[in-house]
Amino acid sequence: MTSLRSFPAHEAGAIGSPIINGANRRTSDGFRHRTLSALLQEVNDTVPLRDRSDLSSFVNWKGNAESPIHRWLRYREAYSPNLITKLGLGDNILDPFCGCGSILIGAAENGNASTGIDINPLAIFAAKVKLTPLSRTQLTAVKQYINGLEAAIDSANRWPIPGLSIASKVFEPTILDTLLRIRSLTESSFSGDKESRDFLHLAWVAILEKVGSYFKEGNGIKYRNKKRLKTGYIHRPEGQWQLERFGCDQRKFTLDTFCAHVRMMIQDARFWRKGAWRDQIAIEGNVLEMDRFLPGKKFDSIVFSPPYANRFDYFESMKVELWFGGFVDSYESIGRFRKASLRSHLGADLNRSCQSVANLERFIALMDKDASSWRMGVPDLLRGYFDDMRVTLKHCRSALAGGKCFIVVGNSAFAGVIIPTDVMLANLGLECGFRKAEILVARHLTVAPQQRNRLQSLEDNMRESVVVLS
Ligand SMILES: C[S@@+](CC[C@H](N)C(=O)[O-])C[C@H]1O[C@@H](n2cnc3c(N)ncnc32)[C@H](O)[C@@H]1O
Repeated sequence: MTSLRSFPAHEAGAIGSPIINGANRRTSDGFRHRTLSALLQEVNDTVPLRDRSDLSSFVNWKGNAESPIHRWLRYREAYSPNLITKLGLGDNILDPFCGCGSILIGAAENGNASTGIDINPLAIFAAKVKLTPLSRTQLTAVKQYINGLEAAIDSANRWPIPGLSIASKVFEPTILDTLLRIRSLTESSFSGDKESRDFLHLAWVAILEKVGSYFKEGNGIKYRNKKRLKTGYIHRPEGQWQLERFGCDQRKFTLDTFCAHVRMMIQDARFWRKGAWRDQIAIEGNVLEMDRFLPGKKFDSIVFSPPYANRFDYFESMKVELWFGGFVDSYESIGRFRKASLRSHLGADLNRSCQSVANLERFIALMDKDASSWRMGVPDLLRGYFDDMRVTLKHCRSALAGGKCFIVVGNSAFAGVIIPTDVMLANLGLECGFRKAEILVARHLTVAPQQRNRLQSLEDNMRESVVVLS
């Protein structure tokens, strides 16, 4: 799951208007803190909260990074396929924000049926590859290809560089050259076998960050030539960081990383021998239009983890993989995905209309109007977020045939205010026709250091929970 440390450092200023003096500010801070504390208490009291710290390692990527098949593409926002057994889900499951297919994989392993939806074409591609067992013959051909790759690479053509403006900045020239040759060799070697080609393409996309001069951090990517110290970023000496990271033969490093990843995937392929892999359905689409592509379909259980209301834009942090992998081919196409995605980040279409949500305006009213997140439009983001979640919950309610709906979600904090997303979603669920709501608290999240003073004694409200609606 994504981290909830969503505040930029420059938001560390005190709450209140810049023209009030120190004494007034302390009074106003104290009043705001007391009001927020009472409001959180009031809202928390509307739904039963239960400790389920045993779920902690199942709701985020770290605990599952080494699970077979799951590990083929690092998807920071993913949860564990084992939630199926942990939560006691039924035989026919819907995950309307399925990401890289965690639940679909769990369902395949357990012999259940599942349907997943996600707006991100890379996520759906990864899910489909994981759910498409290759035959022994195909796996043998992939193995042979990998064994002969080093000998064939020099005579291969280069795949065209995508139109991403930073395309030649995110890789060292030799690494980029090697990557583009692998890509075109894979395409030509498996031109008649889409399944094997996709298997290899997933491995290729999955290693981009490992061999790249960038890494994903927070709400985007950072360059490896900079190092973060407590005092800020420093430039690492040119030549030295590359040597430390890639060794002295960058071509070999790239080939070895790719081949090792494919071999790991081939090793995991034994898990395809048991289960119902081809019974799972992964759909690229917008959950807000779910009724259009799943008309009248019913499920025993629904489980999902929506983007958290924390400003993280997946299309920003995954832009290298999206462009290089061929999932977007223009700024217009990536912009369209960004706009259509859930209003959890500032790049989404915040102009779409929305209905009000109980209590939200009371939290917004307590926010520090001088904080950068306020100025950037976080109040509209929150209004849009809960409105999108209302639409989602309505769809889920009508798609559920009697079972439960589980939502894995984290609370967030902006401009000195904690938003108890879990409780607010529980209440939205009741408004959408669910009869009972409960919150299972999986773990507590840290408050960003610059917010700690303002939110002292309220940190317990920074939770990652499973909202249960029935
Ligand atoms: C927290 S992640 C879910 C990860 C998933 N549980 C997994 O294990 O891989 C949230 C997902 O919501 C997707 N998303 C955002 N807006 C969406 C929308 N409008 N419709 C469908 N999916 C959306 C994102 O692409 C992202 O994969």
